[in-house]
Amino acid sequence: MRRKLVVGNWKMFGRLMKNQALLQGVSEGVRQLKGADFAVCVPYPYLAQAQSMLQGGNVSWGAQNLSQFEEGAYTGEVASGMLVDFACSYAIIGHSERRALYGESDEIVAQKFAAAQQAGLTPILCVGETLAERESGVTEAVVARQLDAVIEGFGVAALARAVVAYEPVWAIGTGKTASPEQAQAVHAFIRQRMAKHDARVAENLCLLYGGSVKAGNAAELFAMPDIDGGLIGGASLVVDDFVAICRAAQQ
Ligand code: PGA
Repeated sequence: MRRKLVVGNWKMFGRLMKNQALLQGVSEGVRQLKGADFAVCVPYPYLAQAQSMLQGGNVSWGAQNLSQFEEGAYTGEVASGMLVDFACSYAIIGHSERRALYGESDEIVAQKFAAAQQAGLTPILCVGETLAERESGVTEAVVARQLDAVIEGFGVAALARAVVAYEPVWAIGTGKTASPEQAQAVHAFIRQRMAKHDARVAENLCLLYGGSVKAGNAAELFAMPDIDGGLIGGASLVVDDFVAICRAAQQ
């Protein structure tokens, strides 16, 4: 049986003092929870803080992006090996905000995915359609194209050491969650598509839902057969909300 996973995506929020209370609250709040995995993806400058406050507990940490290059003259970029220096477990790859605001193409996303894996990090590959794409009926085609960029480049076996997050762009930060049935339909599509390549990889793939997951809707989303947890933005910044979502993932 697949284990559930809940990952907080802090985005560009946080300050040292505030993070301290948040990290401590989350770490203590989920300490007794069993049967699921938990992580927070923090801004780069706070990785050392996350490491020192979370090590030894049951919350892992990671980054929200990385460079596709190993090192070099890339001003302002952060390499996968640097994330490893801070004992990161995860890196979010291809979040829709990176695709839309920083021009990350499917090709760049695939390169970043590979860079994360080569460094031993678990990539959390984000896919999802915009509202216009959903309304014009191309949700599945968009998600398939985003996944294929990775499968064609590195084979379906690469997905065996990865997490995929389905995040409909229209549901991110809008308070407009996909209904459990809407999310389940796309998750089932992703798993079936993987199964055409490799049934085992498909069966074991951890598939998160992201987009306005809150304490009040997490349990019904996580109850769907192909939803293996969540990628949580806004609600990951509030201790009680994030802990409640983690609790909903317990099996
Ligand atoms: P949200 O963000 O939970 O605030 O909608 C999710 C995400 O962007 O990963």
